[in-house]
Amino acid sequence: MSKRRATITAVGHYVPEKVLTNLDLEKMVDTNDEWIRTRTGIRERRILEQGATSDLCVKAIERLLERRKIEASEIDLIIVATVTPDMFFPATACIVQERIGATKAWGYDLSAACSGFLYALVAGSQFIESGAYSKVLVVGADKMSSILDYTDRNTCILFGDGGAAVLLEPSEAPEFGIIDHRLYADGSGGAYLYMKGGGSLNPATHETVDKRMHYIYQDGKSVFKGAIKGMADVSLEIIERNNLTGQDIAWLVPHQANLRIIDATADRMGLDRSKVMINIDRYGNTTAATIPLCLSEWWEAGKLRRGQKIVLASFGAGYTWGAVLINWSLESPKGS
Ligand code: COA
Repeated sequence: MSKRRATITAVGHYVPEKVLTNLDLEKMVDTNDEWIRTRTGIRERRILEQGATSDLCVKAIERLLERRKIEASEIDLIIVATVTPDMFFPATACIVQERIGATKAWGYDLSAACSGFLYALVAGSQFIESGAYSKVLVVGADKMSSILDYTDRNTCILFGDGGAAVLLEPSEAPEFGIIDHRLYADGSGGAYLYMKGGGSLNPATHETVDKRMHYIYQDGKSVFKGAIKGMADVSLEIIERNNLTGQDIAWLVPHQANLRIIDATADRMGLDRSKVMINIDRYGNTTAATIPLCLSEWWEAGKLRRGQKIVLASFGAGYTWGAVLINWSLESPKGS
């Protein structure tokens, strides 16, 4: 008997309306549009002015359910990848479960920063492959503006807010769906990208607030070096171990942290830029949301076709990194 495979059967995303441009940031910190564009590829990002990460999740999921024409009560499991949960507890997945009315679902949050969506996608697919569940929502959402120091030009220009979701179901044909994955972690990378305040190590005090410990800290150069190597290596590894070359890949769906990291990954795979999903210019780095946000936008634009082989790739805090190979099964709505 052939293996039961998980496949993506619906996508949905949400970005807040408020746009924060590079020119806006010029008025807030010592930076400029040219520096940001050439060093990162970012032109603008979205900001959620009111509400929390669960709002981003709920709006993305509502869109997804509408497209798939199913009720929330049919969902078995909700996994929310995020580093900006509404609260430490209850889990954002529980808040979302109640708000969408997923009455029979259970759920949990998963913390793997920019690789959160890939970790969650692989976790969710195991529940489908084992036969335990048939409808698993995998959500990547972050309200990065809630942990950014808008006086720190090293970090505040990089990130934005957004949320996106995919639905995993058993594939009707064994050749479609999530074919392979490689996930990695290296805790020694924790020294270069972190938020030290608020956890059990440094509970919130006046001192932690004064020392700005409730904001992201990043040593950009070190993370950049790690990301260039990690994301490119794992992307090449996943195609090679499946006896594929860049020629066989229809789309690379990279985590959107920096255009130069994306370009390096595409080069390493021998992929033309036209085969790379890029929306960092409009949204910046939305952490766990970047990859599903690309999938949902490209699907909506009619650019995803059944039978296309696509590689998802990420690198982020932890360090965490990985790649997922998919034989895409969800036909886009319009012809292209
Ligand atoms: N505007 C203007 N100048 C800035 C700036 C800003 N927003 N931020 C930093 N600079 C300055 C630095 O202070 C430095 O000045 P100095 O040489 O006088 O010290 C100079 O620009 C160069 O900084 P550097 O860190 O060498 O730039 P970079 O080319 O490495 O780009 C990042 C910085 C953050 C864009 C880049 O390192 C990066 O993208 N890192 C990885 C980000 C990432 O992937 N993070 C999320 C994990 S997924």
